[in-house]
Amino acid sequence: MEAVIGLLMVLLGVSHGVETYCDGRQDGAQCFVALGGTVVLQLITQDEETYAYGWLKNNNFRVLYVKNNKVLVNELKNRSSFTPSNGTFRISNISWTDNAEYSLRIFDVYGREIATQKLQLSIQGVETYCDGRQDGAQCFGALGGTVVLQLITQDEETYAYGWLKNNNFRVLYVKNNTVLVNELKNRSSFTPSNGAFRINNINWTDNAEYSLQTFNQDGYQIATRKLQLSIQGVETYCDGRQDGAQCFGALGGTVVLQLITQDEETSTYRWMKNESFRVLYVKNNMVLVNNLKNRSSFTPSNGTFRLSNISWTDNAEYSLQTFNQDGYQIATRKLQLSIQGK
Ligand SMILES: *[C@@H]1O[C@H](CO)[C@@H](O)[C@H](O)[C@H]1NC(C)=O
Ligand SMILES: *[C@@H]1O[C@H](CO)[C@@H](O)[C@H](O)[C@H]1NC(C)=O
Ligand SMILES: *[C@@H]1O[C@H](CO)[C@@H](O)[C@H](O)[C@H]1NC(C)=O
Ligand SMILES: *[C@@H]1O[C@H](CO)[C@@H](O)[C@H](O)[C@H]1NC(C)=O
Ligand SMILES: *[C@@H]1O[C@H](CO)[C@@H](O)[C@H](O)[C@H]1NC(C)=O
Ligand SMILES: *[C@@H]1O[C@H](CO)[C@@H](O)[C@H](O)[C@H]1NC(C)=O
Repeated sequence: MEAVIGLLMVLLGVSHGVETYCDGRQDGAQCFVALGGTVVLQLITQDEETYAYGWLKNNNFRVLYVKNNKVLVNELKNRSSFTPSNGTFRISNISWTDNAEYSLRIFDVYGREIATQKLQLSIQGVETYCDGRQDGAQCFGALGGTVVLQLITQDEETYAYGWLKNNNFRVLYVKNNTVLVNELKNRSSFTPSNGAFRINNINWTDNAEYSLQTFNQDGYQIATRKLQLSIQGVETYCDGRQDGAQCFGALGGTVVLQLITQDEETSTYRWMKNESFRVLYVKNNMVLVNNLKNRSSFTPSNGTFRLSNISWTDNAEYSLQTFNQDGYQIATRKLQLSIQGK
């Protein structure tokens, strides 16, 4: 059980660290990226003919513009870097809104368009795997992601099996290796030959106890085993110590915001939402006010604010106001928290 939770922490915790590489130099390239992760896109190779290029999102928003090997426009510069010498664009903190079709338009020195290549960037939720073949298995799925549940191994005895949710709703029924019922078929697939059930687009309603009932050829029940599926929100991290930081949280998930470092001059500060609502007030490194305390925690020693169960209303501009020992305000820095969901 602890091992499983540990694995989950790794899976969800590193979701902002998953890095994918995609070669986008062929027209029509498909790139898949994990929510919260980083993508390294190979957009172009230098050649003599190419003088300038622009990279557009959905054919109408210019993300990048490079001329004579100089980056003149990079609308994602806060979370990306483009290296003209090798043509790679590294974008981090991937969010649902990055899901789009992009096109690279290439121009020669006379301003003539010499090529266009399209690229589809598909953002995917976190995928978890769980072996549910032991009675009492504890499995985890990430909200918006995919879970692959190993339900059964083919053996000679088992002829049919049903998979029930909360002991009353039959999700799946398989007989003689043929799927006769799959109530989740729009977002799942079950493969009888390997017994794996792959469920996409995980939502809170999937959080339940499931049981697998197996039958022999004469219709006698031979076994039942239970599996608990627990759904968790995606966790993202953001360093908010620079004025103007752009952070994002996944709807229903958790965001860990680095607000301050203890070695900064101050030990008294408050954190405001939209300049009007005081979320947090810390004096001499003691939390005196936390108006979101039922779903958050602030740790003064490392300056991180952990907010869970994220909702659309958390989408706001926040500002940290710091005070010196005489109570004078010494600085303010802003942070934009953008909530993303499907
Ligand atoms: C491209 O250059 C950047 C910056 O020097 C480097 O970090 C990156 O690894 C390079 N990528 C490739 C594919 O060569
Ligand atoms: C099960 O399926 C196999 C192959 O599809 C078939 O040959 C066999 O007769 C079936 N068994 C029963 C009991 O229907
Ligand atoms: C599943 O998809 C079909 C069409 O592909 C649609 O008619 C049906 O309503 C969907 N069912 C659910 C439960 O979403
Ligand atoms: C969650 O999934 C269930 C089952 O497919 C579906 O009926 C329900 O509409 C979904 N809820 C949300 C919020 O997507
Ligand atoms: C992106 O995520 C990294 C951690 O993976 C963090 O250090 C950085 O501050 C984040 N940037 C933005 C703009 O949110
Ligand atoms: C990028 O960050 C700077 C400060 O670090 C901020 O002034 C600017 O508005 C941000 N730009 C975007 C596009 O997020």
